Amino acid sequence: MSEKKFYITTPIYYVNDNPHIGHAYTTILADVLSRYHRVEGDEVFFLTGLDEHGQKVQQAAEARKLSPQEHCDDLAPRFMQLWEKLEIQNDDFIRTTQQRHVTVVQTVLQKVYDAGDVYSDEYEGWYSVAEERFITETEKESGEFRDVKKLKERNWFFRMGKYQQQLIDYINDHPEFIRPEHRRNEVLGFLRQPLGDLCISRPKSRMGWGIELPFDKDYVTYVWFDALLNYITGPGYLADDKNFQKWWPASVHLIGKDILTTHAVYWSTMLFSLGLPLPKTIFAHGWWLTGDTKMSKSLGNIVNPLDLIDEYGIDSVRYYLMREMVLGQDANFTMASFVKRYNSDLANDFGNLLNRVSGLIGKNFDGCVPDAGQLTPDENDIKDEANRLEARVKELIGELRLNEAIEETLQLVRRVNKYLEHQAPWKVAKTDLTRAGTILYTATEALRISAVHLSPVIPFKSGAVLDVLGASGTDPQWGGLKAGTKLKSHEALFPRLEVPK
Ligand code: ME8
Ligand code: MG
Repeated sequence: MSEKKFYITTPIYYVNDNPHIGHAYTTILADVLSRYHRVEGDEVFFLTGLDEHGQKVQQAAEARKLSPQEHCDDLAPRFMQLWEKLEIQNDDFIRTTQQRHVTVVQTVLQKVYDAGDVYSDEYEGWYSVAEERFITETEKESGEFRDVKKLKERNWFFRMGKYQQQLIDYINDHPEFIRPEHRRNEVLGFLRQPLGDLCISRPKSRMGWGIELPFDKDYVTYVWFDALLNYITGPGYLADDKNFQKWWPASVHLIGKDILTTHAVYWSTMLFSLGLPLPKTIFAHGWWLTGDTKMSKSLGNIVNPLDLIDEYGIDSVRYYLMREMVLGQDANFTMASFVKRYNSDLANDFGNLLNRVSGLIGKNFDGCVPDAGQLTPDENDIKDEANRLEARVKELIGELRLNEAIEETLQLVRRVNKYLEHQAPWKVAKTDLTRAGTILYTATEALRISAVHLSPVIPFKSGAVLDVLGASGTDPQWGGLKAGTKLKSHEALFPRLEVPK
């Protein structure tokens, strides 16, 4: 099987407040996809980081009576520590205040300027502080934008409009470019209106926290024109050409649907102007909601991921977020659904299977894995299903159907639990120990393969299962479990939780 390169990014988050479960979600998702690709033997580059410039960050710093840089330096470690705590295996962490990035932004600005894609003009319009951009009259009337005010000022503009047709053609020719499908249609719909140009500067007199324009020192760069470039700074644009050529274009930009336009339209036209290829896929996932509203810092209805982790453990949180959201749709975060999902999948299905096989092997085989012996059609069915899972999981992950990949693995677990009930090896052991051994080998080997397929999602608990089974490595095909291996003693993998009132 050919090894591939997989370059995945998350949005770089604003450092205006502590990270919340929405940020944790996108980052865990990128981590899980990275891990699946690594298991498949792909070479992975996983980039995440922080968006440190712009008005929101400046205001947050002012409110805390800190300089913007002090504020960023104080908050950045909170994100980094959370990712460490969540076992995120990113390959790079970018902060837009880093010199490597400032250099890229200024060089790019000079390039688009020299190419004639930038001009200065007086502009009057509605400005949304929350969105950090000028909005149209129609957008203003929609009432969807907070903190809107009228602004009139001289600014620098990027000739985004001139790339409109090129972008439409590109999207039509590349069905994989914007996903899921309904987001692609949304962007094409947006592009039916004249595109207009993009204001890419902010006068320092109004908003000084940003990267200075190389051709006008009275202005700083608009935060989105700065932030989007992180995706090429990361792999070494202008700094390490070999590495950049190796990784660009990105395989997937993972984003929430809130920032689809900036990625699908602004970023694409910037890349056109630079003569660089576009990312293969921009995937916009849905929102975690509490009740009917988006969980967000500014709405103050957030769930703190650290509290959840402390109470329920890292793997449970990762599992819930990955299993519960259908990629592309919104999902509702409730403690009731968290506990329900945990108890059904992790405690009753996965955890229970480990308890059963290790208990029965302890009792009947001195804790040593029995011989596989002679498989009957019942065992061969399970073996075939377990072997088929590798290709199936790979296919689903390739299509970003993560919750289905998890569900198919859990189906194997459930099937094996049923098989055990049906075969009742605890009874068989009294009359036919060889046959009981075959049943238990089959169940244990299926458990091992399930743990391999779940390891990108629940790395600790899967690792614990493999450790109990004395299984080194992550071979997803039948036969990796060695007869005679002494099982290690263990605690309950996922103790059942009380259902909240
Ligand atoms: O937009 N549900 O940063 P940001 C799911 N700096 N995901 C959520 C979420 C929720 N309720 N809330 C946030 C920015 N997210 C810019 C990005 S990229 C070049 C610059 C996730 O701190 C989701 O990925 O507002 C969303 O797109 C992102 O956090 C926005 O983070
Ligand atoms: Mg936001």
